[in-house]
Amino acid sequence: MCGIVGAIAQRDVTAILVEGLRRLEYRGYDSTGLALAQPGGDLALWRTVGKVARLAEKIKANPGEGVLGVAHSRWATHGGVTEANAHPHVSENRIALIHNGIIENYLEIRESLRGKGYVFHSETDTEVVTHLIHDFVKQGHDLTDAVKLAVKQLTGAYAIVVFDAQQPDRIVVARIASPLVIGFGNGENFVASDVQALLPVTRSFIFLEEGDVADVRRDSVTVFDARGRVVERKRHESSLSADAVERGEYAHYMLKEIHEQPQAIADTLEGRIANDRVLPNIFGVDADALLQRVRHVQIVACGTSYHGGLVARYWCEALAGIPCSVEIASEYRYRDVVVPKDSLFVTISQSGETADTLAALSQAKKLGYLGTFAICNVPESSLVRESDLVLMTRAGPEIGVASTKANTTQLAALALLMLELARINGLPAERLRELVAELTSLPRVVDAALKTEPEVRKLAERFVPKQSAIFLGRGTYWPVALEGALKLKEISYIHAEGYPAGELKHGPLALVDAEMPVVAVAPNDHLLEKLKSNLAEVRARGGELFVFADANADIDAHQLGVHEAHGALVKLDSGGNFIAPAVLTVPLQLLAYHVAVLRGTDVDQPRNLAKSVTVE
Ligand code: F6R
Repeated sequence: MCGIVGAIAQRDVTAILVEGLRRLEYRGYDSTGLALAQPGGDLALWRTVGKVARLAEKIKANPGEGVLGVAHSRWATHGGVTEANAHPHVSENRIALIHNGIIENYLEIRESLRGKGYVFHSETDTEVVTHLIHDFVKQGHDLTDAVKLAVKQLTGAYAIVVFDAQQPDRIVVARIASPLVIGFGNGENFVASDVQALLPVTRSFIFLEEGDVADVRRDSVTVFDARGRVVERKRHESSLSADAVERGEYAHYMLKEIHEQPQAIADTLEGRIANDRVLPNIFGVDADALLQRVRHVQIVACGTSYHGGLVARYWCEALAGIPCSVEIASEYRYRDVVVPKDSLFVTISQSGETADTLAALSQAKKLGYLGTFAICNVPESSLVRESDLVLMTRAGPEIGVASTKANTTQLAALALLMLELARINGLPAERLRELVAELTSLPRVVDAALKTEPEVRKLAERFVPKQSAIFLGRGTYWPVALEGALKLKEISYIHAEGYPAGELKHGPLALVDAEMPVVAVAPNDHLLEKLKSNLAEVRARGGELFVFADANADIDAHQLGVHEAHGALVKLDSGGNFIAPAVLTVPLQLLAYHVAVLRGTDVDQPRNLAKSVTVE
């Protein structure tokens, strides 16, 4: 989703801005641009469709310098992917503005500005805001007041960063519902949509709150709250490493992140389990009292994070004996929800900035839940700041758009929460000990699962010419099948659907023929025999089976009717039925990755997708 960077310094800021955009590439974008204030009240502007590297080339071909500038990577919402629609937008060659979000009432403001003689060069809602601010500046307001007046007229979601080349002492920013951070340097200050962009130049940040406007100068920052009062926002020192976003020896970030999973899961569990139990207070100081009262759990998330929630539902009901509902955030937020008594609201999000999840959280806060609990990977995110209790996954920055290590670390974090609820609700100590021991082994078992890669790479070749695929699983492995299908479709562009295996004969079986690969996840549990019957139904229709099974599952290639030229059976240690959903996710990630590589897609930045979905 769109990326924002801005800088005001004593040195040329061009390289800082370009590097900032590069570090935000993982969010997904389709065009970029950069503007610098020039001596004499003029401004220099470069914009291009395509990658940041192309923008850098364009700047190199026609170089410029400036101590004040802004840069943007755009993910099209209003208007197509064209240079004219790329940001920064400019008014009368003096006001330059970049924007994330959507201005809902831009058409009416545009009409009123047209009436005042403004000419529009793009189809965007952003250009409207640029001229609106210019109009206030023209009336004699300084830039800060002009922004304050302009935002009063806007409805929608936005993070705005603007400068006036004729008042080159400041950048002014404003936000509603789109993240914006200010980074503090030595005699220089920065703004961005995400701390990642600024890690090479600062680690000291403030996070703007809803309705804030800030006047950012080289040596001072003044923040005004939604009512116009000057406020202090708390400073945070980021612990993120600037190098964590380097790809190293790996061909893609996604592959690197798949291989980082053993360490990421170990980091997520570290210091949270000891003496065969989940340590008290890892969820926050007042968590224990709150968790004691929980009689229902409502999980809300999107995409891969939602799949994590689906696995946790099985754990919650089977181990803690507490009813659990799981819902997609974009549905939950617009529904008239009935909240059961003593219900805990749990959100799951890698980025902590997903607009639908944040909206669902803010909705939930009005509905009388016992409390809100976030499982999140980004400490500085809005979700973390707005939730009562937080359990951080410690996956480190996830750059590949397709979520991998965030997913398995979410499962580890959800397992901790569900084990704690299970303990509180009387799961026998011996059983709890076994489960904690199993969870502790997860990094090692995931590490072993990665060793299936050569085998998986080979069978990926069989998917290259395919148009569609079906993924099957039962119980906790149904969400694993959903996740396997999502991974394959988003990066290889092969149409893929996940189903509970028992649902096959209620419709999807009609699709099965010799052309249809069917991928199944077969654990060693009480549902194995049922799954085997479903797989026999697939074979009877000539479908090609690719089965990932626990090493001890009573299933063999002959039985399944798979052989060298038709399907495959890959057996691996899935580590026990509690952790197996996380383990069996790994070969499905590898499958999607290698199919995508063979099909030559843009693995880390698949078409039309963004890493952080900060708009609806
Ligand atoms: C798929 C994927 C998305 C995200 C979804 C939620 O690989 O990454 O489906 O899981 O957009 O994002 P977060 O977890 O940041 O809320």
